[in-house]
Amino acid sequence: MRYDGKKQWGWRVHIEVGGIRMGYDMEGRGAPLVLLHGFPLNRAMWRAQVAGLRDRFTVIAPDFRGFGDSEIPRNPMTMDAYAQDVIALLDALDCPRFALEGLSMGGYVAFRVMALAADRVSALLIADSRAEPDTDEGRQRRYAAVARIEDEGPAGYLAEFAGLVVGPTTKAQRPGVVQAVREIIGAPPARSLTAALSAMASRPDSRSLLGEVKVPALVVVGEEDTLTPPEAAEVMVAALPNARLVRIPSAGHMSNLEAPEAFTRAVRDFLAAEFPTAG
Ligand code: MLT
Repeated sequence: MRYDGKKQWGWRVHIEVGGIRMGYDMEGRGAPLVLLHGFPLNRAMWRAQVAGLRDRFTVIAPDFRGFGDSEIPRNPMTMDAYAQDVIALLDALDCPRFALEGLSMGGYVAFRVMALAADRVSALLIADSRAEPDTDEGRQRRYAAVARIEDEGPAGYLAEFAGLVVGPTTKAQRPGVVQAVREIIGAPPARSLTAALSAMASRPDSRSLLGEVKVPALVVVGEEDTLTPPEAAEVMVAALPNARLVRIPSAGHMSNLEAPEAFTRAVRDFLAAEFPTAG
């Protein structure tokens, strides 16, 4: 497969990579843009961005192991293991270089892709995420969630989740978004959730990578994001040599779902400015 900017793609498929089945979408034409989803969602969270970007980019959205259509992890996971799955998928798709975007957990994984294969990344886009590891308190909260899911199953934990990640404006004015988040989350298996929670709890500190990012970067944050707040975004922008910040008004942690038009416009404007001839 070659990205010559002329071909049209529109596939929803599974592929065997590294011995596991991975689900992914690939749609559009032009330079590749890889979108990494947040926890505990899956690639379906990117629908609006795929629709809004596929005229200029070949948008590739994988499901992390255990989410969406990707196989459930057999072993404990790490952020590097999720990143290796993404790299293996891109190898299998013959995609040597790509712009890379990750939201929240997708951002944690994007940093590990940078650690493992920086030379393949043409631009880095991080949304509602942070480079620093969990605090001790944050880690304890994750392990408490693991214990709860192991004890009682995922339903109660997941039912609360959608209400916690969106901002107050969305909660008050766009109840459909909370429902959409619930529907996209679906019913991931307990093992997928506990593996991801443990991987996030033990993720490495990616702050030292930031100064080494040679490519243009965009940091996006919902102004009402309390999980990875605007201050965390500002810290990343200050440490990245060539980054700009876009704050999305009236949106919380799920900024791409809460304000899809503003989010997609930010990505599109950034990529168009950095790669005027792409697509
Ligand atoms: C996510 O949206 O991916 C998670 O909320 C990230 C996190 O819990 O740190």
